[in-house]
Amino acid sequence: MRPIMVAGNWKMNGLSADAVHLTQAILHAEMEPMRPEVVIFPPFTLLHAVSQEAKSSALRWGGQNLFWEASGAYTGEISGAMLRDMGCRYVLIGHSERRQIFAESDAQVAQKVKVALLSGLTPVVCVGETEAERAQGATEAVIHRQVEAILPLLNLEASQPNMIIAYEPIWAIGTGLSASPEQAQAVHAFIRGLVAAYSTQLAKRLLLLYGGSVKGNNAAALFDQADIDGGLVGGASLQVGEFIQICRAAE
Ligand code: G3P
Repeated sequence: MRPIMVAGNWKMNGLSADAVHLTQAILHAEMEPMRPEVVIFPPFTLLHAVSQEAKSSALRWGGQNLFWEASGAYTGEISGAMLRDMGCRYVLIGHSERRQIFAESDAQVAQKVKVALLSGLTPVVCVGETEAERAQGATEAVIHRQVEAILPLLNLEASQPNMIIAYEPIWAIGTGLSASPEQAQAVHAFIRGLVAAYSTQLAKRLLLLYGGSVKGNNAAALFDQADIDGGLVGGASLQVGEFIQICRAAE
C-alpha cells in the first residue's frame, strides 16, 4: 500500500502575503492527520514565509529547481544545501517548463537528481511528452528516454525509493485538458514497469504523481487508478478551495 501525495507547484506566482494566506488556508483545512501527504512548491523567495507558517505542521514544502554544483560563482542559482536550509524536503527537477524554456537536457536533469540526493532532498522528477510526440505514437519512447536517464540513480539497497516521478503530459499542462484517467494510468503503469526492471520491490513502492490540469472535479477519478499515487497540481494549487478539494479527493 503506497501513501498518496498531493503537491502544489506555484510556479512563478505569489508574493509574501499570498504565501501566508495559502499556507494558512491549507493548514486550517482540517486534514490532520494528513492523508494525503501535502507538499507545496513555492518560488524560492517565498520558502521562508512558508516555512515559518508550516514548521510545526505535517505540511511539507520544496524548491522548484536547484543547481548541480554545491556552491560558487553561479549567479542566480540555488543549491541543494540552500533548499535544505529553508527546511525543504523535496525538489522538483526536470519540469517541462525547465526542459522547454531553459533547454534542460536529460543529462542535466540526472545531474540535478544526483546533487539533490547528495543534499538529502527527495527529487520529484517530471517527465512527459508533447502533443506532437503523442500524435506520432512516440509517448512511450519519450518517457522511456527521460526515465532511463535517472533510474541509474535509484538506490537499489534502500527499502524505499529515493525519488518520486511525476508524469506530466505537456499537452495537459495549463490547458484545462487533463489526460483521461485511462491515458494517465497507461503511462504510469509503463513507468512502473521500467522501474521494475531495476527492482520489483522499489517499483511497487515508488510514488508516481500525475500532473496536468488536475482540478477538484477530476482528481478523484485520476487518483482511483491503480498506478496513480497522487497529483502535481499547478494552476489549481493557487486557488485555496480547489486545492483543498483535490486534497480531499485523495483522503
Ligand atoms: O507542475 C504542475 C503542472 O505543470 C501542472 O500545471 O496548471 O496544468 O495543473 P496545471
